[in-house]
Amino acid sequence: MAPVQVTRYSDAPIGLFDSGVGGLTVLRQLQHQLPQESVIYFGDTARLPYGTKTPEQILQFVREILTWMASCGVKLVIMACNTSSALALEQVRCEFDFPILGLILPGAKTATKTGKRIGVIATPATVASGAYPEAILEVDATAQVWQVACPKFVPLIEQDKIHEPDTLAIAQDYLAPLIHQRIDTLIYGCTHYPYLEPLLRQLLPSSVQLVDPAKSVVVAAAKELELMSLKNQGSQSGASRFCVSGDPAPFAQVAQRCLGYTPNVEKIDLPEIKAGTLAEMVD
Ligand code: DGL
Repeated sequence: MAPVQVTRYSDAPIGLFDSGVGGLTVLRQLQHQLPQESVIYFGDTARLPYGTKTPEQILQFVREILTWMASCGVKLVIMACNTSSALALEQVRCEFDFPILGLILPGAKTATKTGKRIGVIATPATVASGAYPEAILEVDATAQVWQVACPKFVPLIEQDKIHEPDTLAIAQDYLAPLIHQRIDTLIYGCTHYPYLEPLLRQLLPSSVQLVDPAKSVVVAAAKELELMSLKNQGSQSGASRFCVSGDPAPFAQVAQRCLGYTPNVEKIDLPEIKAGTLAEMVD
C-alpha cells in the first residue's frame, strides 16, 4: 500500500532527529544555511546510544520517530544521525510521503572531493554496516578508506565530559591507527563528534581535512525544497521546537554547548508501532 499523499506547505517544519544532542550539529548548519525554516528536533535520549543497537532495533526506532514526525506535518526530514542513515534510510524512504535525507552519501561525496586517503570515525553500528566505504568507493574507486569505531565518544559527549583528561586519551587511541595510515581527510561519521573538534584538531596533523557531512546534507535539503517549491520564503527566522524521549534537563544543558543558548525542551512519548507493521503495509 502506497503512503497517503498529504498536501504540504512551505511554512511546514523540517524534521531533524538523532539519538541525542548529536543532531544539533546538523541543526546548527540548517539554521546557518536556511535560517527562515522552522524545525522540529527530536532526540531519542531514552534509548541512546544507537551505535551499539542491532539493525532491527534501529529500524524500529526510526519508524516510530518518522511516524510521529508525519503527525507533526513535516515537509522534509533530515536523519541527523549517521547510524540511522546507514542502517534504516533505504528501508524507510518509501514508507513516508515526505523526502527523507541521510548523511552518508553527502559526507562521502564531500570527502572524495577533499582527499584520497580517507579516515572515518563512527559508531560501531555504522562501521559494521560498511555504508561509508561503500559510498566513498562508489564515488571514487581509487580512494582508500580506513574506519575506526568509537563507542566511548557518544556517552562522554552526552554526559558533558568533553573536557575531561580521559576524553583526550580515548581520542588519541581512536585516532592512532588513522594517523598511522597517513590519512589526508577525516569524516565525522557520527553527528556527535563535531563537539570534539578542539580535541581532534589538537591530535591530528594540521594537513588533515575534517569533513562534516552536516554541511552537505543541508545543501541537499535546500535543493530538494527548491525542487518541490517548498522553501520557506518568509522574511522571519524560523522557530525551533525541541523534543526528547528522556529527561529534558541534561539534553538542554549539553545543547547549550552547540547552540549557544539553553533551549526549552519537551518530553514526548512516541507512538508505539508493532515491529514489522509498516513493512507489511508496504509489501
Ligand atoms: N549521533 C548519531 C550518529 O550520527 C548516533 C550516535 C549514537 O547514539 O550512538 O550516528
